[in-house]
Amino acid sequence: MASRMRRLSRRIVTIPRSPHRVLVALVEELRRKGVDVYNYTAGQPGLPPSEKALRYFFEKFMEDPFGHSRYVATQGLWELREEISRDLEKYSGVRVDPRNIVITSGGAEGLLLALGTVVEPGDEVLVFDPCYSLYWGLLRYLGAKIVTCRQDIERGFQPDPECIKEKVSDRTAAILLTSPDNPTSRIVSREVVETIIDVAVKHKVWVVYDEAYKHIVYEGEHVWLLRYPELQDLLIGVNSFSKDLAIPGFRLGYLYGPSDFIEQAVKMKGFLSITSPVPAQFLALYYLREGFKEEYLRYALEVYRRRRDAAYNAFRKYLPEAHVLKPTASMYLFPDMRPYLERLGVDDVQFTYDLAKEVGVAMLPGSAFGEGGKGYLRVTFVTQPEDRLVRGIELLAEYIERRARR
Ligand SMILES: Cc1ncc(COP(=O)(O)O)c(C=O)c1O
Repeated sequence: MASRMRRLSRRIVTIPRSPHRVLVALVEELRRKGVDVYNYTAGQPGLPPSEKALRYFFEKFMEDPFGHSRYVATQGLWELREEISRDLEKYSGVRVDPRNIVITSGGAEGLLLALGTVVEPGDEVLVFDPCYSLYWGLLRYLGAKIVTCRQDIERGFQPDPECIKEKVSDRTAAILLTSPDNPTSRIVSREVVETIIDVAVKHKVWVVYDEAYKHIVYEGEHVWLLRYPELQDLLIGVNSFSKDLAIPGFRLGYLYGPSDFIEQAVKMKGFLSITSPVPAQFLALYYLREGFKEEYLRYALEVYRRRRDAAYNAFRKYLPEAHVLKPTASMYLFPDMRPYLERLGVDDVQFTYDLAKEVGVAMLPGSAFGEGGKGYLRVTFVTQPEDRLVRGIELLAEYIERRARR
């Protein structure tokens, strides 16, 4: 009797494994072997969370452990949503009703809820290539047809407005925009924002706006799409507490958007995760309510800025042929390494594997973020002190020189 084979869903099996995961595993393996790895791969904050916030939280937690670890409403703790509403108003000048906010398990779940709520299989979604690596897998999983506009270093990583006008049509369900960006760190320009608004309004397209790095800004300021009333019914903000509160492991973020969207997103969250980690919701509440957030950010941004300068200057000094922009926000340098990689005859993925194995310097290949990232490296500048940041970049340059002579 022919027996049926057990099987895994093609929807997930056909999605390729990201080189990001391969490198993270490689770094772990090297560390286990005792190698002192210069690690530039992580999207981690560079400093531990506010000690004051943690102490306050643990005291409150111990006063009422059950109150801090019970189930709360799927949409999230009301007091936290009120605090987020105040926080958004303080920075953007625009009030978002707490009823239009959903607490999520990180920005990652926020993206799933946002895109899962507005995209049907076969719908087009516009992304800007290169983009945050998670988008590719998630959109494929949802059966979206991914449409892209490039963001090239020659344009300061701003997408071409003409491309946006060309690619958005009545077939488009959503435009997925990130600012400040990962991996390019650019803050979106006014020209691009205005183009996105025009086409979104014209074709009734959702703008899913990933603001994970909204507070990690060194020069200039975050672009608040909330300020554009034309987008009121089309804007979904995806936010994270991983970077600005430095609590990525607590898994917390939030969404805001119009009421009909929120209702469906909450329904989806109900069967996905019931509610987001409740102790984390209280920690975020205290962080915001007691003013620990501002204090922490002032301190962290000063340190990050110095680290950015050190890493940027090291690239200019040791790798003068790499085209690199000085980031005004976010946590990453994204140098164009093609002059070197072409000379070595190696692609960025293989190069990063070799670099990690041979010299213990781990950086992410640009192609992990899309075709547009080919030949680039993503270099996190916030997670190491200046001397180590600079030394690792020097080691990268020495490795390239040695390899060229082989
Ligand atoms: C652009 C962007 N969005 C969302 C996230 C997800 O963050 P989390 O799920 O930790 O909130 C990240 C994390 O690196 C990111 O870079």
